[in-house]
Amino acid sequence: MKIALIGFGVVGQGLAQILLDKADDLQARYGFEAQIVAVATRSRGSLMHPSGLDTAALLAAAGSGDLAKYSDQPGLARGASAMTIARESAADVLIEVSPSNLTDGQPAIELCEAAFTSGKHVVLANKGALLHGYARLNAAARAAGKHLLFEASVMAGTPSLRLGMQALAGCTITQARGIVNGTTNYILTQMEGGLSYADALADAQRLGYAETDPTADVEGWDAAAKAVILGAALFGKQFAFADMSVRGISQLTPADISAAAAAGERWKLIAEVTPAGASVAPMRLPITHPLSGVAGATNALTITTDLLGDVTLIGKGAGGIQTGFGLLSDLLEIHRTGQAR
Ligand SMILES: NC(=O)c1ccc[n+]([C@@H]2O[C@H](COP(=O)([O-])OP(=O)(O)OC[C@H]3O[C@@H](n4cnc5c(N)ncnc54)[C@H](OP(=O)(O)O)[C@@H]3O)[C@@H](O)[C@H]2O)c1
Repeated sequence: MKIALIGFGVVGQGLAQILLDKADDLQARYGFEAQIVAVATRSRGSLMHPSGLDTAALLAAAGSGDLAKYSDQPGLARGASAMTIARESAADVLIEVSPSNLTDGQPAIELCEAAFTSGKHVVLANKGALLHGYARLNAAARAAGKHLLFEASVMAGTPSLRLGMQALAGCTITQARGIVNGTTNYILTQMEGGLSYADALADAQRLGYAETDPTADVEGWDAAAKAVILGAALFGKQFAFADMSVRGISQLTPADISAAAAAGERWKLIAEVTPAGASVAPMRLPITHPLSGVAGATNALTITTDLLGDVTLIGKGAGGIQTGFGLLSDLLEIHRTGQAR
């Protein structure tokens, strides 16, 4: 399978590292082989070769901060735009791992559409493209007879979407509810340990969990984007922020945390989605509730079904390797099911 990556940061490199480390294992166990034929970045250059780049050399060049350090080879093209790679690279699958633009989802939506019209499958970790473009991209995928897969966009590689869409197929799902933002869960856990909101946030930033501008995490928008993606995956609905109630954790005080603890409860930022809509809010849950015991940057999702009751999945929700695995699981699904959608 030939793949092209739009974005080669933490997640893109995580996938490349997995493909390098597990090449023999993936070949032996699944007959799966992947060649990276193109990568695009915003400021570190781009590389494209129809028969494949050297993954170890690519990672070394990316690690040095400049893809120009990748050695010349016959047939290598440098400097192609992301759109040229989406349209013209030799890839079977376009992987969109550029930053999530929660405002309008671009340029990822147009890049994915170009990939479909040029006969490629699309795999994304990019939440913005799905938040604003799910219906559009799903239609483009159907028209092209190609896969649109996005396991890595919610809970990284922890198989939240695949659990709902595949393992629980045959059940009627009535609700999904969970902790889908690790940064805020880490901050809440630190606040329970006695830190103020500001100190807990600074701690999360120091550890690289929270961005310099933490708004999308702490005000609930990242969790809301994931709720929208869950709505699309589990219920085939395209919800929009404008129709959702979204509240984050920035207003919670140490007094709120202590009051909950005194009542045998714990604050969690909960994203909730049903066929009727989606929302995000901090909630007080009894400490006996399965989601209450989820501490630190861990994510968890409870899917409520008719035949099985509640099914709760707990796991990592971020990280290069963890999210790279989410992408790999989509590539393996494309490999398993062949070209047919
Ligand atoms: N990190 C996680 O744990 C995680 C988990 C789940 C989902 N995600 C999603 O995965 C995606 C990638 O995350 P990340 O952590 O890998 O981000 P990152 O480390 O910031 O890397 C982003 C990459 O995209 C490139 N890029 C930016 N704008 C571009 C453009 N217009 N065209 C082509 N390339 C562009 C950047 O280039 P430069 O290097 O030149 O800036 C960089 O190589 C995001 O959408 C994120 O929301 C991440």
